[in-house]
Amino acid sequence: MLAKARERSRGVTFRLGRAEQLDFPSASFDLVFSVDVIHHLADRRQHLREAYRVLRAGGKACTVTDSEWIIRHREPLAVYFPETVEIELARYPRIAGLRGVMEEAGFAEITNNRVEFPYELTDIQPYRDKAFSSLHLIAEEAFERGMQRLERDLRSGPIPCVLRYVLLWGTK
Ligand SMILES: C[S@@+](CC[C@H](N)C(=O)[O-])C[C@H]1O[C@@H](n2cnc3c(N)ncnc32)[C@H](O)[C@@H]1O
Repeated sequence: MLAKARERSRGVTFRLGRAEQLDFPSASFDLVFSVDVIHHLADRRQHLREAYRVLRAGGKACTVTDSEWIIRHREPLAVYFPETVEIELARYPRIAGLRGVMEEAGFAEITNNRVEFPYELTDIQPYRDKAFSSLHLIAEEAFERGMQRLERDLRSGPIPCVLRYVLLWGTK
């Protein structure tokens, strides 16, 4: 992933590290931004404390993630693989809880907003490849059932979908 990122954006310095232990001096960034990462972290408190530490005064953290509502209404994931919903709810933090953790870490002006990108699904290969980690966590029969429905519906044309995210902001 790093090699691909470096190839695409030659002007950017990429560093590999752990979100809970950022190898940067304090007060050195204007923005700490993550997409689809927070639910992977064992210690979210420690990550948000680290985000706060490396930000300059006035700097912002933006955590891009899924709310409970988004997980329950994911199109196509919740529609075709409804077994993913409870599994995802168990591993994703609630937005209210994250807001509390941000507050404890020292953040002010904590806000969240939702963004939506409607699109038409025409290539289901990433689903076949289980490119979404929750597809590895459901039973094989549930996965096959979902794939068969996806394949059947795709025969009638592109499948309308919506990508939704919550952007959770805080200021140092
Ligand atoms: C679902 S992917 C999202 C990748 C990318 N942000 C995107 O939106 O395409 C989750 C990423 O979190 C990273 N990750 C998991 N645990 C981490 C940790 N403790 N510190 C930093 N990154 C972590 C994984 O390596 C993976 O790249």
